Amino acid sequence: MYMRKRSFTLCPRPHVINRTSIGRAPIRAIQKHAHSMTAAFPQLNTTQRTWLITGVAGFIGSNLLETLLIHNQKVVGLDNFATGKPENLQEVHRLVSAAQWQRFTFIEGDIRSLDTCRAAVKGADHVLHQAALGSVPRSLEDPITTNETNISGFLNMLIAARDAQVASFVYAASSSTYGDHPDLPKQEDTIGKPLSPYAVTKYVNELYADVFARSYGFEAIGLRYFNVFGPRQDPDGAYAAVIPKWFAGLLRNEPIYINGDGETSRDFCYIDNCVQANILAAITDNPKARNQVYNIAFGERTTLNELFQMIKELVVEKHQQAAEINPVHRDFRPGDVKHSLADISKAKHMIAFAPDVSVRQGLARATRWYMSNGGGADH
Ligand SMILES: NC(=O)c1ccc[n+]([C@@H]2O[C@H](COP(=O)([O-])OP(=O)(O)OC[C@H]3O[C@@H](n4cnc5c(N)ncnc54)[C@H](O)[C@@H]3O)[C@@H](O)[C@H]2O)c1
Repeated sequence: MYMRKRSFTLCPRPHVINRTSIGRAPIRAIQKHAHSMTAAFPQLNTTQRTWLITGVAGFIGSNLLETLLIHNQKVVGLDNFATGKPENLQEVHRLVSAAQWQRFTFIEGDIRSLDTCRAAVKGADHVLHQAALGSVPRSLEDPITTNETNISGFLNMLIAARDAQVASFVYAASSSTYGDHPDLPKQEDTIGKPLSPYAVTKYVNELYADVFARSYGFEAIGLRYFNVFGPRQDPDGAYAAVIPKWFAGLLRNEPIYINGDGETSRDFCYIDNCVQANILAAITDNPKARNQVYNIAFGERTTLNELFQMIKELVVEKHQQAAEINPVHRDFRPGDVKHSLADISKAKHMIAFAPDVSVRQGLARATRWYMSNGGGADH
């Protein structure tokens, strides 16, 4: 079933990429970014477990991979490179030791194939399911592919993980599930109507997870991420998130756009906080923590205007031309909510979530990464 050959074409069956073949390609200089050295999980040091990360070549998946390998865990990664990049895996290779990298097996494959999901989950203790097509605008343009990946793919993973009797299944849910509900801060039990096909898919994930707990006793944990940012988040393409796009724009002297008047606010969450939540949720020994969803955020609101100023100040310190760049305001995007702020007390209480990197600190770390990567992977 497996092929020991690297291939980047989509295939119905998984490929195992030869571990060494991902590695030392001549990509741009990569510096160890500080976050890999600070995230410490003593709970992982005593036991070596096997983790499956789906979407491992993406932004969040590759950061999970880095942290788990640094903690000497065994990791299987699954990705079809729909939006993820081999460069993200190459970078992790550079940041970990040779022995740690040897504990990683990569499967190039698609979660829309149940067989692939079953092969990937075999032998896993914990599943961190990140693979999905993100982006509200992408889902508005192509709801069918978003649906197939985010709902059918999710269901495949649930079935495969249930049948493999994994110890835990943690999945990427989304703050978009709050939809049109106006209350702030957002609390897990109070949601509105979804505002985009993407939001529908993420809500359906939660419904399926709950039904699997009731019907089969398979208790998953959903993490409703709020605007995660940090190293390896892709700045390019029509569906790029605002923080990487602005870093890249300022570093490349390109125009910066703000949708709306800039008073739109978000609860931006640095990647380390998100990684922490995944690991805590996966290894929790609190039985009541299962079959739940949690807000994963820092718990502070930042407007887009404030965000732009913070990023600009950080970039200008090293790249003075950016001082001349001011944002251009344009229309609000359909499907976007005006304000978002998380109440994170449930995750604090149930899984001991303790986000410790603020937006400003996270932006400073991200600045170092975007500076040393020329504003993005392909530049
Ligand atoms: N980044 C955020 O702020 C944010 C917020 C809310 C939710 N999320 C969710 O977190 C998860 C990870 O997001 P990210 O920001 O790292 O995005 P990303 O696009 O960088 O990562 C997603 C990964 O999934 C892979 N993938 C997509 N379709 C696949 C398929 N059919 N089979 C196998 N792999 C597939 C992609 O190639 C990519 O590597 C997603 O589920 C996303 O919806 C992210």
